[in-house]
Amino acid sequence: MSGRLAGKVAIVTGAGSRGPGIGNGKAAAILFAREGARVLCVDREAPRAEETVALIGAEGGEASAFAADVTRAEECRGMVAAALDRYGALDVLHNNVGVESRKDLMETSEEEWDRVMAVDLKSMFLATQAAVPPMVERGRGAVVCVSSVAALRGHGRTAYAAAKAGIIGFVRSTAAQLGPKGIRVNAIAPGQVWTPMVEALGPEARERRRRASPLGTEGSGWDVGWAAVYLASDEARWVTGQTLVVDGGLTVTTR
Ligand SMILES: NC(=O)c1ccc[n+]([C@@H]2O[C@H](COP(=O)([O-])OP(=O)(O)OC[C@H]3O[C@@H](n4cnc5c(N)ncnc54)[C@H](O)[C@@H]3O)[C@@H](O)[C@H]2O)c1
Repeated sequence: MSGRLAGKVAIVTGAGSRGPGIGNGKAAAILFAREGARVLCVDREAPRAEETVALIGAEGGEASAFAADVTRAEECRGMVAAALDRYGALDVLHNNVGVESRKDLMETSEEEWDRVMAVDLKSMFLATQAAVPPMVERGRGAVVCVSSVAALRGHGRTAYAAAKAGIIGFVRSTAAQLGPKGIRVNAIAPGQVWTPMVEALGPEARERRRRASPLGTEGSGWDVGWAAVYLASDEARWVTGQTLVVDGGLTVTTR
């Protein structure tokens, strides 16, 4: 690898995967480490973060695990304190955590709405709020938030679409606020990538998802991870407030 993140310290939230295989957060953490970053792998489920740390360690990279629920402000502050304590600085926050909800307007209960908003949107606000002060102190930093093409296309997933669209508004607003302080904030909108998060949909859905994009090839966590590497790196030094769509071209079609 080419050391695109050499010398940087990164936090990846949701750095584990909910099942066997490589999800978006796990891929980003591994790629960050391959590119030279020291990575704090954060997950609510400690063994999931530890598994990613072990994969990074086996490749000779530097990472450690931290258990935190990023829907809680205090745990977000603890996560940032751990990065500063273990690695002395914080350059990159990769806000990857998110949960799916496939319910339409009338099926979505108030509890479901609140749960999805907390995990998918509030977590971005709390983690960013905790991470920004040490970045401001050094006059530099990059925040990347994982949205979804669900924010951009009409479909039945009410709470998920609303939360993921909220991320784009959050990113644009914070980018405007933090640009003068040297901090960039961007979003990634993955398309229908095949990860452990959607494994339960089954093989037919997998094939349908693959065929849906103009490229006709299957997207993976690695595709989303590479976008995160770019946005976290100094190569993106003049890019802020943007949403990078990684979807094989899905959103340019009318399907
Ligand atoms: N797979 C897709 O098709 C797709 C498409 C668009 C966007 N996304 C987005 O990608 C992101 C997740 O990707 P993934 O593949 O890493 O998912 P994943 O579910 O495999 O892994 C996410 C990890 O986050 C952890 N987590 C969940 N809630 C948490 C919390 N409150 N605090 C800390 N950790 C928590 C889980 O334990 C899990 O290990 C989500 O934001 C999701 O919405 C996925």
